[in-house]
Amino acid sequence: MKKGTKLPKKITYSSYLLSLIKSFDVSADDIERFRENFHNEMKLGLCDRPSSLKMLPAFIDRPTGREKGRYSALDLGGTNFRIIQVRLDGCGGAREEHVGRFVIPSVVRHGTGKQMFNFIAMSVLKFANSHNIKFTDGKKLGFTFSFPMKQTSIVSGILVNWTKDFSASGVVNKDVVALLADSFKRCGMKELKVAAIANDTVGTYAAGALKDRNCDVGIIFGTGTNACYREKIANIKKLRGHNKNAHMIINIEWGNFDKFPANNYDARLDKETNNPGKQKLEKIVSGLYLGEITRLVLTDLIKHRFMFSGGKARFPKGSFTTRHMSLIESDHTRDLIKIKAYLEEQGIMNTNIAERNLLREISTMVSTRAARISAAAISSVVTWMDHELKFHHSIAIDGSLYERHPGFGKTITRVLKDLHGSKSSKITLKRSKDGSGMGVAIIAAVASDAAGTRGA
Ligand code: BGC
Repeated sequence: MKKGTKLPKKITYSSYLLSLIKSFDVSADDIERFRENFHNEMKLGLCDRPSSLKMLPAFIDRPTGREKGRYSALDLGGTNFRIIQVRLDGCGGAREEHVGRFVIPSVVRHGTGKQMFNFIAMSVLKFANSHNIKFTDGKKLGFTFSFPMKQTSIVSGILVNWTKDFSASGVVNKDVVALLADSFKRCGMKELKVAAIANDTVGTYAAGALKDRNCDVGIIFGTGTNACYREKIANIKKLRGHNKNAHMIINIEWGNFDKFPANNYDARLDKETNNPGKQKLEKIVSGLYLGEITRLVLTDLIKHRFMFSGGKARFPKGSFTTRHMSLIESDHTRDLIKIKAYLEEQGIMNTNIAERNLLREISTMVSTRAARISAAAISSVVTWMDHELKFHHSIAIDGSLYERHPGFGKTITRVLKDLHGSKSSKITLKRSKDGSGMGVAIIAAVASDAAGTRGA
């Protein structure tokens, strides 16, 4: 599906802009179709039929709030590998005691699986030594693995495919818990065992649900994007042998949804990525890609001599990121001096206010489309669970885009209001800072309780 991609024969500044705006527009009708298609794909995914939504059972339901003790989580999914130690007070309270951050070098993300898991094990060893932590009870460790994985239990996860900026070899179709255990052994920590593995959305959900019984969705808007929600087991047709009256969290993997219109810039970006044809929604919504889409638009405007006197200015690939968009869109000074300073840093001098304004408009156009599509996805999930919005739904959200990009959350709230009117008050978006790591420590507690062991 392509959208507004035909440019008028004679390209004038205004006709060019009009066609650009049209190609990034997400109308109410687009959202309606988006929701219908989304529901359809959810249904297919739950039955194990071909669908762009994988709908992966997470083998966990909501925490009771009575989880207690000290648990740790290993968090793999972005450029930083994190280790978090959490203290649960047994009354719904959770406190981060220690956090360790290790930048994963690109050669490790794109090397072999063995190198990557050794890197994780070595980081755990450093963290344990520097905080004098003894991981002697294997039942205290959670593993946040922020990629699509097929689970058959809470302690196994088979990687379906890598996403974002990861491609370590020899990991797809393997159980990552087993690969991690091998690395622990190689690094002399054979006593270390993972009690639970979960996607970052599932962790975010668990952190939200610990205190809030209405929390039934967890979302990440960060480098990548995805959501999970609480489903009745009776609806998970592909799952056999479980109590049909109970619930289970489903990792939707909505980043891969592809039944919505995309434009020429999306197609160009998709071709450049290491996973062309996949993660279509993620590529128009998440932090890893928004900067690049904006850069492609800017490069065209410069090429057509509509900006920066044409030709002189350059934005080479990789030079423009979503962080730059956040800076640009947060400039509310009269003369747009933050944008001016940013452009001068790039060697683009003597810009006029109209050009700086256009830069801000372009960036806003790309991020607004991302927020509108995000709202469409949220509305799809909530109306799937509760068609008439009869109940309250708290949605726990983590991720740098939601936390830092100006106006992103507000636009989502506004679109939900447009879509659902007064019933939108039934949907509460709640920031769950570091929920993804914290939540998987909580899930490790739930799993340990079920296995009859408790944290120290
Ligand atoms: C992955 C998801 C993950 C999301 C947010 C996506 O690329 O496929 O599993 O939840 O990023 O980190």
